[in-house]
Amino acid sequence: MLDVWMHDLPPSRAELIERSRGVDGLLCLLTDKIGGKLMDAIGPQLKVISSMSVGVDHIDVAAATARGIPVGNTPGVLTDATADQAFALLLSAARRIPEAERFLRAGKWITWQPNLFLGADFADATLGIVGFGRIGQAVAKRAQGFDLRVIYHSPNAKPAYGARAVDLDTLLRQSDFVSIHVPLTQKTRHLVNAAFLAKMKPNAILVNTARGGVLDQTALYNVLKSNQIFAAALDVTDPEPLPMDCPLLELENCLIVPHLGSASKKTRDMMSLLAAQNLTAGLKGLRLPNCVNPQVYKNHAGI
Ligand code: GLV
Repeated sequence: MLDVWMHDLPPSRAELIERSRGVDGLLCLLTDKIGGKLMDAIGPQLKVISSMSVGVDHIDVAAATARGIPVGNTPGVLTDATADQAFALLLSAARRIPEAERFLRAGKWITWQPNLFLGADFADATLGIVGFGRIGQAVAKRAQGFDLRVIYHSPNAKPAYGARAVDLDTLLRQSDFVSIHVPLTQKTRHLVNAAFLAKMKPNAILVNTARGGVLDQTALYNVLKSNQIFAAALDVTDPEPLPMDCPLLELENCLIVPHLGSASKKTRDMMSLLAAQNLTAGLKGLRLPNCVNPQVYKNHAGI
C-alpha cells in the first residue's frame, strides 16, 4: 500500500507519526524532521528512509544507523542546478538586480545616471569557496568563465578547475566573493558568525546556498546594516520559511529567495526518481543506490 501526503504544507509531528506508524519505507522531504523517536513510533519493520534532497540534516542519521536503517539521498543530480543558483545569486547581488528592479517598479527611474546602482566587477576578482565538494567544484568551474581567481577551503579536497586550497582566514581576507557549500552539521552550525564576517573585505559579497543554520543571521544583519560587507545573497535561511518580520528583510543589500537551489524541472524530476529508487531498493532489502550511512550494511568496507 502507498500512502501519499498530498498537502503543500508538511505534516505536523502528530500527523507524521499517525500516518507513518507501521510503514516499511518512508520517503520524506527536507521539511520533515525525522528523529529516533519517530523511527521507533513507526516500528521495527521500518526498512528504509529516503529523502528527496542531498542534505540530510533533517534526519538523525546516527539514530537510523543505530537501528540498522539505511538512509538515502539524492546527490549528483542537483549539482549543476545548485551551482547555477549560487552564480545567479552572486551576479544578482553584485549587480544589485533585485534592488534596481524594485526601484524601476516603484516608478523611480527618471533618467540614465553615471552612478546609478553601481555594483561589483567580476573580472580579476577573487572568489572564495567554503566547502569544495561536488557543488563547490561546480561553482569553481563556472567561475573560470568569468575570469575569477578561485581559492577554496575544504579539509581533504583536491584542487580542481584552477582553484587553490587556502586556510579559512586567508580565504576570508582575500576573497571579494565568498560562497558557502558545506553541509549543516554540529561542526558547521554558525560557521559564518560575527568573527567570520569581520574577516571579510568591505566590498565582499556572501552567498549561501547550503543551509540556513550554517549562518548566524543576527551577525549577518549587523555587518550588512553597517555596510561592513557589500551584500549577501541567501537561498536558505533559518528558519524556513523566513518570518516576514526578520530584520534581514529590511535591508536593500540582502537578497533572499525561498530555498530554490535545485529548483529546475529536470533536476527535481531526477531527484524524485533517485528518491524513489532508494525507497524501492530499501523495501526489497537491496543496497540503496545512494546511501549516506553504508555502515548499516554488513559487507561495508568501512568509511
Ligand atoms: C536541497 O537543499 C537539498 O539538500 O537537496
